[in-house]
Amino acid sequence: MRALITAGGRGTRLRPLTHTSNKHLIPIANKPMIHYALEAVAAAGIRDVGIVLNPDTGEEIRQGLGDGAAWGLAITYVMQEAPLGLAHVIQAAEGFLRGEPFVFFLGDNVVVGGIRQFVERFEARGDHCHLVLARVRDPQRFGVAEVQADRIVRLVEKPARPASEFAVTGIYVYGPPIFEAVHAIRPSARGELEITDAHQYLLDHGFRVGFSEITGWWKDTGKPEDLLEANRFVLDQVLDATGPVIRGQVDAQSDVAGKVVVEAGARVIASQIRGPAIIGEDAVVERSYIGPSTSVGRRCVIRNSELEYSILFEDTQILDADVRIERSLLGREVLIRRGNSRPKTQKFILGDQSTIELA
Ligand code: TTP
Repeated sequence: MRALITAGGRGTRLRPLTHTSNKHLIPIANKPMIHYALEAVAAAGIRDVGIVLNPDTGEEIRQGLGDGAAWGLAITYVMQEAPLGLAHVIQAAEGFLRGEPFVFFLGDNVVVGGIRQFVERFEARGDHCHLVLARVRDPQRFGVAEVQADRIVRLVEKPARPASEFAVTGIYVYGPPIFEAVHAIRPSARGELEITDAHQYLLDHGFRVGFSEITGWWKDTGKPEDLLEANRFVLDQVLDATGPVIRGQVDAQSDVAGKVVVEAGARVIASQIRGPAIIGEDAVVERSYIGPSTSVGRRCVIRNSELEYSILFEDTQILDADVRIERSLLGREVLIRRGNSRPKTQKFILGDQSTIELA
């Protein structure tokens, strides 16, 4: 069993963050998102992993993940020349996959609870294709599976009236017939080779398409609010429930409570921190409030400010902000500060496709 993890695509819904960085390196609880996929694959006992890159940001992923030894994995990088769809990803990786069964894991999906059980069920049932489904409240936003007993009988992309509450997640296990399917289908109206069409091909040609239901937690982090939600959930899961873990310094005037990690070299001065929250290495939090579900990256500085339910990448500063900053995603080396000039105006220097919401 091999694994194929996606780290290409366009990432248009996460602009401007994805103008300068690959979306799969966006930190969730101060760890690049794609690390969660690598950990899940390694924990399932899989060693040979292909990672699909795009030409623009591939090098950044290679630099970040190396040969995979850090996870006990052997990583092979596969270049997809253009983002022509998920079935095209499989075509691009055929040389690496060598016609063997494999797990296909979309690198922007975060799943808690591992994937080993899905691989085992695929093998035990002798499926040709095994989709991981999740019960959701809003199935019309997803590909929806219609199931009968232990099989999938129909798949519909974003149905107006969903036949079930089962969304198809970004984790799939395939046997060799998927290679036939990805070559048989034709591009969709948006010009992509759709993975749903490959699945439908397998159904239409009598192959066994089974499923597992995710019982843990799952999130497709395509949009900013999904990232904040994933960060909230992962912080709550991974941080120590017994209380704050202080590897840096917290002074006597500070109050740190709940699931909190203050990393080595970080300093908390005359501040309040309410977990779940993580303060990255060498960050400084001074005369400030950090509220729940917040990740502060390495070397960030937060001074005389209030921050909650947010993700700060590295080297970002919030200084003397007199509003509480919430539900925010700030990339690297962002600076938010109060100015002293008159008249008192708002001043912005924003890159393409930035979003600002004023109170
Ligand atoms: P999507 O989230 O469907 O697409 P995207 O990442 O390009 O983002 P957006 O829709 O905001 O422009 O992709 C799901 C996963 O598959 C993600 O990990 C990126 C990856 N992908 C590829 O590697 N190649 C492709 O051709 C496509 C379409 C996606």
